[in-house]
Amino acid sequence: MIDLIQTIGQAIWFILPAYVANATPVLTGGGPPIDGGKKFSDGYRILGGGKTIRGFILGLLAGSIVGVVQFTFWSSPESWMIAVLLAFGALLGDLCGSFVKRRVGFSRGRSFPVLDQLEFVVGALLLASLIKVPGWEILAVLMILTPFIHLGTNFVGYKLGFKSEPY
Ligand code: CTP
Ligand code: MG
Repeated sequence: MIDLIQTIGQAIWFILPAYVANATPVLTGGGPPIDGGKKFSDGYRILGGGKTIRGFILGLLAGSIVGVVQFTFWSSPESWMIAVLLAFGALLGDLCGSFVKRRVGFSRGRSFPVLDQLEFVVGALLLASLIKVPGWEILAVLMILTPFIHLGTNFVGYKLGFKSEPY
């Protein structure tokens, strides 16, 4: 039991830059979309209006800063690069998810269970794996826990008026 709680703590600590990178655009996004408003060959938007340049840049900055602070004060100094990769990967994963949603004809904001909750964490882990692959226990905890954390924070964000959908 103690082991499990410890693993959950380690997992959240490791992935924190990705969580911050993913949440920041909800609070700070807006403005010009990354896809420039352009459509793909299927007639739907490439990414959609929910993926903005400002959200991406501020998410990358916030996630990286949190990660660099974490690693500077509590972990080995060479691993701050992981934080940047986690933040960047989370945002790229989110873009990939929206790309897939548009290709299957889902309009902006429509719920796509599992993809919506895991795209960013998978993207983050993939990029971070260039430097470090966490143990399987950490990966398992992240895959199981992230959807609940994501849905929970989104619900709070909706109640506080930051999001237009509760999921
Ligand atoms: N956001 C942003 N820039 C990003 C990612 C997100 O500005 N790169 C902001 C947008 O205001 C977006 C909100 O965060 O509406 C919530 O993000 P998300 O749920 O990922 O986007 P959706 O609007 O639901 O669009 P999609 O259907 O493509 O997921
Ligand atoms: Mg959404």
